[in-house]
Amino acid sequence: MLRLGVNIDHVATIRNARGSSYPEPVRAAELALAAGADGITAHLREDRRHISDADIAVLTDLCLKRGKPLNFEMAVTDEMVGIAIGAKPHAACLVPERREEVTTEGGLDVVKGANRIADATGRLRTVGARVSLFIEPDPAQIQASADAGAQVVELHTGAYCDAARAGETDRAAAILERLKSGAALAASLGLEVHAGHGIDYATVKPIAAIPQIVELNIGHFLIGEAIFVGLPQAILRMRTLMDAARLELAA
Ligand code: PXP
Repeated sequence: MLRLGVNIDHVATIRNARGSSYPEPVRAAELALAAGADGITAHLREDRRHISDADIAVLTDLCLKRGKPLNFEMAVTDEMVGIAIGAKPHAACLVPERREEVTTEGGLDVVKGANRIADATGRLRTVGARVSLFIEPDPAQIQASADAGAQVVELHTGAYCDAARAGETDRAAAILERLKSGAALAASLGLEVHAGHGIDYATVKPIAAIPQIVELNIGHFLIGEAIFVGLPQAILRMRTLMDAARLELAA
């Protein structure tokens, strides 16, 4: 079955907009798990614009209690590696981070940062974290991820989702082909394949139909949709679409 990791960062964004104590990301995480999410994803950014250090502790406790994985997204810095080593999350997903960006705009350059990334991966693996590298579906990046000792790659789906939403069908189809061949290459190298970024109801099915992908991480759209239909409902609909794509694949 294709797993769904729900990213609750944007509950924190709303809380932080007022500097208040609500809405609490952990409450969203609890609802998401009760609604069938397979895990929780959260990104502790250098500038703490989403979740805070205190949130990590609370989310770690919740996931341990519910027996569900916490996927800790983080930049490749000594500070973040230190925090992750202390928190011992089930998974650590290394992402590129620039202060001025609105969101994680592209994949990690594992080719260029090979030594630094291999070092962080090795340190994270010593506390049992499954290390995932968030990359573009580029063969050189995939090979470099395997060489760096990662167990997982998460393929960046942002460009595909943007093109599909803009109605740029040829561009979307070309990026989807790269995602498909990237997933196949990663799996052939023994890497577990995840995907995420920018996914909504309209874009989830072609991605969910890529057979080597075993996990999708989805945040912004689900938290936005939750405003209108509630988080459990939004998650259930996403899950239904994911399962339908998998069933069509099997048929
Ligand atoms: N996966 C990774 C590695 C991410 O950095 C993000 C965004 O924080 C997501 C998934 C979720 O993306 P979105 O919020 O656009 O669904």
